[in-house]
Amino acid sequence: MGTYMSALEQRSTGIGLLGLGVVGTAVAKAIIERHGPNDQSTRLNVVAAVVRDDSRKRYVDLDTSAISTNLDTVIGNPDIAIVVELMGGEDLAFDYITSALKSGQHVVTANKEVMAKRGSELLATATANNVHLYYEASVAGGIPIIGPLMNDLTANKIQSVRGIINGTTNFILTKMEHEGADFSDVLAEAQSLGYAESDPTADVDGFDALYKISVLARLAYHTEVPVDVIYCEGIREVHAKDFRYASELGYTIKLLAVAQVNSKSGLLARVHPALIPLEVPMASVNGVLNSVEVEGDLVGPLWFQGAGAGPNPTGSAVMGDILRIANGASNSGSSPSTLEPFPIASMDDHVCQYYIRLTASDRPGVLANVARFLGEADISINSVLQKDTDIENGHADLVIMTHPAREANMQSAVSSIRELETVLQLDSLIRVETYGDRS
Ligand code: HSE
Repeated sequence: MGTYMSALEQRSTGIGLLGLGVVGTAVAKAIIERHGPNDQSTRLNVVAAVVRDDSRKRYVDLDTSAISTNLDTVIGNPDIAIVVELMGGEDLAFDYITSALKSGQHVVTANKEVMAKRGSELLATATANNVHLYYEASVAGGIPIIGPLMNDLTANKIQSVRGIINGTTNFILTKMEHEGADFSDVLAEAQSLGYAESDPTADVDGFDALYKISVLARLAYHTEVPVDVIYCEGIREVHAKDFRYASELGYTIKLLAVAQVNSKSGLLARVHPALIPLEVPMASVNGVLNSVEVEGDLVGPLWFQGAGAGPNPTGSAVMGDILRIANGASNSGSSPSTLEPFPIASMDDHVCQYYIRLTASDRPGVLANVARFLGEADISINSVLQKDTDIENGHADLVIMTHPAREANMQSAVSSIRELETVLQLDSLIRVETYGDRS
């Protein structure tokens, strides 16, 4: 006799939503349109949705009585097996997810901030209560990356995870590159198009990417990588000119999030703008697209690319998690089996090439002085360009590409260079991402 339930015997799985914004609406629609009463494989039912403002018009075919501001309609409701948290933020989300898990409800979330800052506690609560906490949508929207790190790649020692995991900044940098426009103009345009928030800090200052790389690093290295040990620098200091000069040198500029192990210094996680060689695939990931490159010792380099945000791509990841639970995922599968301490490297010990752009007086000896400070910090120059010479005002852009150097040495050289009377401004210091070097 078969073990499948007949369509008649099959009961639907109750879903409760916390948040009914654009992603919540896409998830509710997917449930209603694809897994309603006629679906014979996985029948789901949106029992209730909790919203901040229940007077707002909603663009989904849900009974208005199912939408309210009352948390008790979802958390602890015995008709709801899976709570879907799509509110974002840290403290409230943490409290609601914890309460749901403790009431024996599974949770699916798209919340990178809470999973980065309090994920280990939440995953432990899920395990203690024998329920699932899944969070595929929290990193890189529709791209499946958490599942592969949690399941398919566990036989590997992961050497690096690096990605473009913030679509807003990638949109801004791509426009700056293609149109020669400056950061503030493109940011204003991105805001008017609705890509960037009116408070763009989380995206442009790198925090969104920081939360996401913290989540990925925990999974890849089975260790806690707290957000405050991750080096973070956003894109406000990248200028249109830098794209022009970078391109002459064979590079483009992207906001990269990286977690990488070095056998000597340990695990380093970092978020910052980086020069990427034009020939590597990451250099062609443009606009709001995301991409993640994972390198494992057995599998080699893997490449994931796709939509990192948007209602349907994010809804796709949320629905994947819901369906996995509704179809009876067999183990908790929520967390790496054990988290263990791992040596965390200091950004000071990071070694890479650097691109430096400065505005300097166009006089004899200026370059020699800059080179002297670099030399004293044990930094060797690879190439120098003099650009945009302004004869009238007697200054020019100096673009210096160094050989690989240690971050601490570079910071010390840069503070001395800034003091030089002939250096009007040190405009840019951008790290060059190293490819193909496992040292
Ligand atoms: N604000 C994010 C981005 C999307 O621009 O990629 C949500 O994680």
